[in-house]
Amino acid sequence: MARALLLENPHLNADPVFASAGVEVVRHPGALDEDELIAALDGIDILGIRSTTRVTERVLAAHPGLLAIGAFCIGTNQIDLKAAARRGVAVFNAPFSNTRSVVELAVAEIIALTRRLTVRDKSLHAGVWDKSATGSHEVRGRTLGIVGYGNIGTQLSVVAEALGMRVVFYDTAEKLALGNAQRMGSLAELLAVADIVTLHVDGREGNAGMFTREQFEQMKHGAAFLNLSRGFLVDYAVLREKILDGSVSGAAVDVFPDEPRRTGDAFDSELRGLPNVILTPHVGGSTQEAQENIGHFVSGKLTKYLQAASTDLSVNLPRLSLEPSEAARYRVAFVHRNTPGVLALVNQTFAEHGANIEGQILGTRGEIGYVVTDIGSELPREAVEAVRQMEDTLRLRVMTRPDAD
Ligand SMILES: NC(=O)c1ccc[n+]([C@@H]2O[C@H](COP(=O)([O-])OP(=O)(O)OC[C@H]3O[C@@H](n4cnc5c(N)ncnc54)[C@H](O)[C@@H]3O)[C@@H](O)[C@H]2O)c1
Repeated sequence: MARALLLENPHLNADPVFASAGVEVVRHPGALDEDELIAALDGIDILGIRSTTRVTERVLAAHPGLLAIGAFCIGTNQIDLKAAARRGVAVFNAPFSNTRSVVELAVAEIIALTRRLTVRDKSLHAGVWDKSATGSHEVRGRTLGIVGYGNIGTQLSVVAEALGMRVVFYDTAEKLALGNAQRMGSLAELLAVADIVTLHVDGREGNAGMFTREQFEQMKHGAAFLNLSRGFLVDYAVLREKILDGSVSGAAVDVFPDEPRRTGDAFDSELRGLPNVILTPHVGGSTQEAQENIGHFVSGKLTKYLQAASTDLSVNLPRLSLEPSEAARYRVAFVHRNTPGVLALVNQTFAEHGANIEGQILGTRGEIGYVVTDIGSELPREAVEAVRQMEDTLRLRVMTRPDAD
């Protein structure tokens, strides 16, 4: 029976998914350090973590039998993905299970900033009755500029239009405009027309510092600004200056260049204490619904890998979307160095040992190749050993249909 070790409390709905695939689950509530993790992984096939536990090369080297790792979150920086790929360990995450949560927070903040809601709220908590319409607007009819039209940006586009907003977007990739949203030819074009600018680009290296003085100065006077994507994209010292001189009317910021690691840790930012600035501690994707979605999604990917060798949406191995085979007696999942001739050698080896290939699929990703072969006949042990001994083999897994001998 396969065993999964789940750290850092992924949602409990992961457990029945593992159970239905015959996987025994062992849970440990907190994160583990490197040595603790190495000790805890004895006899474990699948590791599930969230953002705190680090899976290093040393951990992977200590457990060559580890099959797969599930990051029950979005980010995978905590895992040495290349080292995992070199050992044929598949890594999965939940790239879009919390999309809706981020969208809902952005919508709430767009309305709150446009209405100066937190300013009114703070005054009243301070015992000051400030009933005035000055500076408060409806979002209906205003222009929302979405920078980064991916999973989050596109959904926000649809919801914002339902609120009566005009949506413009800018994306470096070719993207289908949803509804009446209008694509802008450049970031500068978007900034020239948007009443509210919201960043939803990914955290690729080239995006560091992409929004600085030049971009703030291209914004319409009095426009509002949101960043729920990554902290290192934006120069917050300039944002502070623009809030204080009134050229930016308000801001909502959920992500920071240096974020405290733990709940309760001290936090500082140049944006603290500014009027009409909403600060949240990177909770855009943190809802119970998102945790539930993540628990279900990642456990599903892991069990599909276990049962069918499917690497659909893996973050480090070539992606093959596979179902369990009804007909084949054996499925051979083979991770190897992506060098010419490997596939031919595998097939020659199988043929020499009389193994009949019923189906085969190959995927490559950089230096890594992944071949899954369904065998309908006997699969002699010598054939498996010969492939395992090949120079470019990184990992070989043979799955046997339960009724095959
Ligand atoms: N605050 C949170 O809790 C939270 C939760 C989830 C995701 N996020 C962050 O939100 C962001 C968006 O997530 P997603 O799932 O929509 O990502 P995604 O990869 O689906 O979309 C990102 C889009 O940005 C585009 N892009 C990249 N660089 C660009 C640039 N310089 N200019 C214009 N477009 C650019 C890409 O082409 C892509 O379409 C990510 O940075 C992610 O880390 C934050």
